[in-house]
Amino acid sequence: MTSLLPGTVPADTTADTPVAALAVDAHDVRRRFGERDILRGVDLQVRPGEFLALLGASGSGKTTLLKILGGLDREAQGRVRVPARVSIAFQEPRLLPWQKAWRNVAFGLRGADVRDRALAALREVGLEHLADQWPKTLSGGEAQRVALARALVRDPDLLLLDEPLAALDALTRLRMQRLIADLCARRGLTAILVTHDVDEAVTLADRAVVLREGALAHELPVDLDRPRDPSGPEFGTHRDQLLGWLGVGNAATPSEDPLPEENTP
Ligand SMILES: Nc1ncnc2c1ncn2[C@@H]1O[C@H](COP(=O)(O)OP(=O)(O)O)[C@@H](O)[C@H]1O
Ligand SMILES: [Mg+2]
Repeated sequence: MTSLLPGTVPADTTADTPVAALAVDAHDVRRRFGERDILRGVDLQVRPGEFLALLGASGSGKTTLLKILGGLDREAQGRVRVPARVSIAFQEPRLLPWQKAWRNVAFGLRGADVRDRALAALREVGLEHLADQWPKTLSGGEAQRVALARALVRDPDLLLLDEPLAALDALTRLRMQRLIADLCARRGLTAILVTHDVDEAVTLADRAVVLREGALAHELPVDLDRPRDPSGPEFGTHRDQLLGWLGVGNAATPSEDPLPEENTP
């Protein structure tokens, strides 16, 4: 674990000890693109095993923050501590078309047992039977599950999900939500899910945070029994709270930031 002077050196995504009290500890994270300050001092702590939903208007910097946490952005400022093994899954499955499903899962792994490991990960997402299919023969939901298997095969301590369900139809999306919830519970994973779907956040998360004007402006613990019933009154209260913060509630809040229609990288 390394501590860095905020603002003077690149963000350091450093391997942490497994006994750490926090899975993610980010302090004063800042990112500027040209003249635009996208992140202006993000502080974020996530407990081991916690499921965090990250919301915010389109362009508010959610993907930027996730990439920083995933160690994919070396130009950010601030201090970032994450576990040793971090996996990211994006909105698009990003499968290599010339590799069969299992090879996409195994991509970058080494050793004699890579196929077995890939098959085990595919089994976890219910797709072992499609291991030898080409990506173009998979449905959108199947391709996204292959991408999830590719994230899981590395046995991550932290799973970063950037709107992985945004492009799926409603039914597939509900199934995938259940799958992600089950996987995270079974593996005791720490997860950060970027979503613009407030119901998805309340269904899955232990806590939801809203990114606004470069910082985490709002936080909502979601202390509801699972599985959660979207038609229940407490669910509705949480939904309304988040919608209000996002500026799309039926409350008096004027809509400065319309609900994002995501098509960002
Ligand atoms: N590599 C980059 N170069 C310049 N601008 C960028 C880059 N990445 C993101 N941005 C800008 O930063 C802002 C936040 O982007 P992003 O984090 O993708 O938002 P979100 O995921 O919340 O929709 C957007 O205005 C985007 O255009
Ligand atoms: Mg994004």
